[in-house]
Amino acid sequence: MKFFIDTANLNDIKEAQALGVLDGVTTNPSLMAKEGITGKNNILKHYVDICNIVDGDVSAEVNAVDYDGMVREGEELADLHDQIVVKLPMTKDGVKACKYFSEKGVRTNVTLVFSAGQALLAAKAGATYVSPFIGRLDDVSTDGLNLIEEIRGIYDNYGYETEILAASVRHTMHIVNCAKIGADVMTGPLSAILGLLKHPLTDIGLAQFIADYQKGNQ
Ligand code: E4P
Repeated sequence: MKFFIDTANLNDIKEAQALGVLDGVTTNPSLMAKEGITGKNNILKHYVDICNIVDGDVSAEVNAVDYDGMVREGEELADLHDQIVVKLPMTKDGVKACKYFSEKGVRTNVTLVFSAGQALLAAKAGATYVSPFIGRLDDVSTDGLNLIEEIRGIYDNYGYETEILAASVRHTMHIVNCAKIGADVMTGPLSAILGLLKHPLTDIGLAQFIADYQKGNQ
């Protein structure tokens, strides 16, 4: 399973990259605003800065909501860097724009996906990635992981190549369970990725190894 980090914070991206397990980055307009990145030129520059830190795909989301605007913005984003993946919302215009970009060979990520039907449409439009938001479904008492399983089944039935990018991941068990059920990619915060490191028996075992080594090597 690929690991993407879901942030526009350059320090977090650098830390995940330094760990050696990072395959890409996802951003969205809220994450950019959280870092205080505003104004078109600053936003475009920030995407290039991110691409220069990581080796993998960097999802950059359009802000337009109409087809023509999405195409215009998406082309500008795709021209920025060859690691850019154009992120489009799951709307009628977003699906049309996804089809347009997939026919041109531009990679896409269809976002704000909350149902298997939406994921089926994204695959038919040739999306590179589909982003079901599992955490936001959990927030409203609906099993986000169940949606990943449904999409996995549908895509496998027909051999769709669209990659399932489990988004809105909040914690370590989301990551582990996404891996168990066959999500292709997960995107989550640095805290969830680093959380995978933790186990008290590792800490206890290491302390014991260090103590035993020191006893025999003074
Ligand atoms: C996906 O690409 C989104 O950026 C993201 O995962 C949303 O996560 P949130 O629900 O924690 O805001």
